[in-house]
Amino acid sequence: MYGMVNKAIQQMVIRDHGEESWEAIKLKANITEDLFLSNSSYPDRITYDLVSASSEHLEVDAQLILIEFGKFWVLDTALKGYGGLMRAGGKNLKEFLLNLPNFHTRVSMVFPNLIPPTFEVHNITDHSIDLHYITHRPGLQNFVIGLILGLSTMYKIETETKLIATRDSEEGNGADIFHISW
Ligand code: HEM
Repeated sequence: MYGMVNKAIQQMVIRDHGEESWEAIKLKANITEDLFLSNSSYPDRITYDLVSASSEHLEVDAQLILIEFGKFWVLDTALKGYGGLMRAGGKNLKEFLLNLPNFHTRVSMVFPNLIPPTFEVHNITDHSIDLHYITHRPGLQNFVIGLILGLSTMYKIETETKLIATRDSEEGNGADIFHISW
């Protein structure tokens, strides 16, 4: 993944727990780089190792870290660094979710080597959507839940998100399916 992802984890850890915690987490994750370059590609392993090491060092469940990171990604990384792109995504939450399948196509203009997830929207009503999340990357379902929480804060709307089928089930058929209602 692009270095901006690891850099965002770093920013979140330092904001919430300070520089010393970050140095300890880097050591635990065997990271030798002094800093991550936003525009360079790093092996996915590094990102997963940073989440596990944060979980161990901070004694916080890794799934909770993924949820927090999803919120941080929308509200800090994306809105502060790419506000124009985010606002162009929609004038309300429903519109943003409807446009989500195309969102990373625009991100790819800034990050040409991006390997983004695929999103599809189904069963669209006035107050709910089923979001299908397709990726080769394991274990990031709670990151998606955090991203949706971040979008809910961005659009000042309360939402409920339920994982109703997983990629390995017959109903999911390769996709994790989230039912999002508001
Ligand atoms: C300006 C805003 C955004 C930028 C710049 C961005 C960029 C990225 C980058 C760089 C990655 C790592 C993949 C790689 O480096 O190949 C990524 C992954 C991902 N993005 Fe975005 N993204 C943005 C917004 C969003 C939003 C709004 C969502 C969903 C609500 C989202 C969902 C995801 C997910 C789930 C992944 C994890 C990778 C996977 O599942 O395979 N992103 N994005």
